[in-house]
Amino acid sequence: MQGRHILLGVSGGIAAYKSADLVRRLIEQGAEVQVVMTHAAQQFVTATTFQALSGRAVRTELWDAAAEAAMGHIELARWAELVLIAPASADCLARLAQGLADDLLSTLCLASAAPLAVAPAMNHLMWSHPATQANVAVLARRGVQLLGPAVGDQACGENGPGRMLEPHEIVARVAQLLPVHGPLEGRRVLVTAGPTREGIDPVRFVSNRSSGKMGFAVAQAMHEAGAEVVLVTGPVCLDAPPGVSRIDVESCEQMHAAVQRELPGTAIFIGTAAVADYRPMCCAEQKIKKRSDTLTLDMMRTPDILAGVSARPAATRPFVVGFAAETQTVEQNAHDKLLAKNLDLIAANEVGHTKAFDTEENALLVLWRGGRAELPHASKLALARALTRIIIERYLACEAARAMPADPACAGVSAPAAGAASTSAGASTSTSTSASTSAPPPARGTLAASS
Ligand code: C5P
Repeated sequence: MQGRHILLGVSGGIAAYKSADLVRRLIEQGAEVQVVMTHAAQQFVTATTFQALSGRAVRTELWDAAAEAAMGHIELARWAELVLIAPASADCLARLAQGLADDLLSTLCLASAAPLAVAPAMNHLMWSHPATQANVAVLARRGVQLLGPAVGDQACGENGPGRMLEPHEIVARVAQLLPVHGPLEGRRVLVTAGPTREGIDPVRFVSNRSSGKMGFAVAQAMHEAGAEVVLVTGPVCLDAPPGVSRIDVESCEQMHAAVQRELPGTAIFIGTAAVADYRPMCCAEQKIKKRSDTLTLDMMRTPDILAGVSARPAATRPFVVGFAAETQTVEQNAHDKLLAKNLDLIAANEVGHTKAFDTEENALLVLWRGGRAELPHASKLALARALTRIIIERYLACEAARAMPADPACAGVSAPAAGAASTSAGASTSTSTSASTSAPPPARGTLAASS
């Protein structure tokens, strides 16, 4: 944590006394800690305690002209590499969930692009209250990292969930949450994940078995590589990886709209979502009654989100990665899709009963124009990290090609037809790479494709 900037928000709760120890431990790890206290927090611990431990004047007011002159609140929000609120009271969580900005801490949380982590601490009934749980769910969906609470004895004499994690536990989690300075720093990556739901009537839909695990793992791996990651996901039972911005959608139409909205400024687009290819022609306004023995649904094609991104003009086209879930002739089908959708890279896997969808593990075949890599069976996160290394290598190669005459290996640089013609024969042979061996991937990159 040497030299890393942590903004520690302290809200009003008896656990605030433990935050003094938390500051001491963070400083011991080499972090620079700026404490911001709410008014209620100052009822429990004085600002002087935190100032002595952090070596910095504690900030408490939004309207403090002298403090603002030294470092304005927007500047402070930018300074933070991680915003940590410990303890986070029930009121603090509710205010964050609502997006209020009427005091310094809440304003900083809105104004900072840094990841936000909260360590809740409150009476167990307050924690279990549906209102608090709803607020926590909203925050989790937004990518806010929840640290605890722990279950145990409480200051009020009762027992249950609501104890703040111990300072050493929080420090360990903070170390994992600090943004990584990786090769994709300053680059925006847009990932789609999960299934889509296409409405039949108000209570029924057409969908598929995708769990979203692969897409969420890809989002995490891209974040670990330093990227700013936006994850557009269909309905799944997963929390957003820490530091990843999440947008929830249901249907292909909604996913398409969210992708179009989020695309500007995107360097890499990765379509891992299992998007429905067809949707019912219309969604009945009322629940369809079972009046006959058979029911015929008229379906129509949905927009191909991935192909749409890939077809953008070169100036606004990101590096485009697709996924192919195939039940047979995986390599041929994936290769055809790479060319047909003019992708820069495709990750293919075999799907079927117990294979790939809704499982913890998977294996991938990665194809690009002029190369291939086999990523053997592993956890989805290990695979996502290996895939990320290949994507970064190919992305950097194509970035270099943009600055130079056309490289036929880059779909966004060369004309699609020329790229397809010149590489279709060579894709599986010319620079064939197996990630299970230590053979390095082709030229211009520095990263090995291994899981
Ligand atoms: O053609 P197929 O559906 O097999 O292509 C799979 C790839 O295309 C995946 O990357 C998936 O996310 C994307 N896709 C899409 N929009 C669709 C259908 C598929 O983005 N309507």
